[in-house]
Amino acid sequence: MEIRSRRRPGGAPSDAGLPPSLEGAGDATRVVVLVPHLTRKAVEGEERLRSPEARLDEAVGLAMAIDLDVVAATLVGLSQVRPATYLGTGKVEEIAGIVKAEEAGLVFVDAPLSPVQQRNLEKAWSAKVIDRTALILEIFGQRARTKEGVLQVELAHLNYQKSRLVRSWTHLERQRGGFGFLGGPGETQIEADRRIIGERITKIERELEQVKRTRALHRASRKKVPYPVVALVGYTNAGKSTLFNRLTRADVMAKDLLFATLDPTLRAIELGSGERVILSDTVGFISDLPTQLVAAFRATLEEVIEADLILHVRDMAHEDAEAQAHDVESVLADLDIDPTDDHRLIEVWNKIDLMDEDGRTRIFNTAERRTGDARPIPVSALTGEGLDTLRDAIRERLARERITLTLDLDPSDGEGLSWLYRNTEVLERRDAVDGRVNLAVRVPPERAEHIERRFQARRSKAPSAH
Ligand code: GTP
Repeated sequence: MEIRSRRRPGGAPSDAGLPPSLEGAGDATRVVVLVPHLTRKAVEGEERLRSPEARLDEAVGLAMAIDLDVVAATLVGLSQVRPATYLGTGKVEEIAGIVKAEEAGLVFVDAPLSPVQQRNLEKAWSAKVIDRTALILEIFGQRARTKEGVLQVELAHLNYQKSRLVRSWTHLERQRGGFGFLGGPGETQIEADRRIIGERITKIERELEQVKRTRALHRASRKKVPYPVVALVGYTNAGKSTLFNRLTRADVMAKDLLFATLDPTLRAIELGSGERVILSDTVGFISDLPTQLVAAFRATLEEVIEADLILHVRDMAHEDAEAQAHDVESVLADLDIDPTDDHRLIEVWNKIDLMDEDGRTRIFNTAERRTGDARPIPVSALTGEGLDTLRDAIRERLARERITLTLDLDPSDGEGLSWLYRNTEVLERRDAVDGRVNLAVRVPPERAEHIERRFQARRSKAPSAH
């Protein structure tokens, strides 16, 4: 059995809050990742196109996506699924040893576990056990920020819980077999739970309807973010987080910025010359997404719709690069972002460091042949190659979308000054000796007119454009 130890680069932040549903286990930040794979191919529905190693990498990536500390990760071969524990008895014992040695409080089994299997494994390992759907739900739960995203994830969560109640219900029924019905009049606990969950589902579905009706309002309120938002999208493992970390670390992080520390997936960075953007790391596109999670997944991407720029990060060294891009583009198209004709999209061709000379030449030539906004930027998030070009491209695109205004503020207009800091991107500030404040600010076009009127602002070129 191959055991690998993987940790998130830089380590998990010490204050990383655990998802509520994982609370209560031992050291629940230390996780053992297991990817069961059937050694005999013939089992229905379990045959997968991807190699077990690729699945293991993906599973580790999923665990790291919610800042779990992956202390061991391994493939577990099995000849058939065991009804009681999914894995074979010998494997269960072997893994108990690993869990103990690593002091792991959590085991992620990358498979659909029945409630009974989950419970039995928890007993055998003295650790909390979660399956693929549960982990993906946690990821979505952490990433969902829009009202719709939060509701969709909760809905998926409730449906997941409900299906598990149904299963233990049948299990219970079978155990009691022969009685014909359960407990006579009155509700059993499971019935009550099911009813509560059912009511909550109905309520959420109603709320979702409402949210969809008022989406236009949400859109307007999200426009209040003072800095442009650059969203990273891409297939899982494409290198989004690496790029995110690289871009945010390379630049001095402006601590005083709004959102700078609020959310690990949302960080302010400086592009140089004083321009700041909010970089938003989205959840990776995941293969084998359980069907009941598709709507929740799309909803977590709602923020992408609002982004000023969308970086589509692609792993160009991956043999399925084209198919992955196609998957991502079809989800973007569902979000009304036309991949062939959206001026906000930039393709980032990542992992060029993994290519040999011929491969690189091909990549650069292909990139060169594309013109205008369709031209991709080859980079290596790992070595940093190409990132300056990427920053330039981001800056250039954003400058095209936003309007720069200069204005003079009266010393007494403290309220105006604070409004500007909250609602615009302040590019430059000069305090004159007489107390007047000269500002250069940048705003989306729809806000420019209001500021011109309110502050007698003048349109100008951004200082960085010189
Ligand atoms: P998800 O969170 O699953 O969506 O993945 P992601 O897109 O955030 O990918 P992540 O940044 O976690 O990178 C996945 C793997 O690719 C990691 O092992 C990275 O070290 C590696 N990686 C990312 N960028 C590069 C690169 O430019 N070159 C090489 N060689 N490896 C890279």
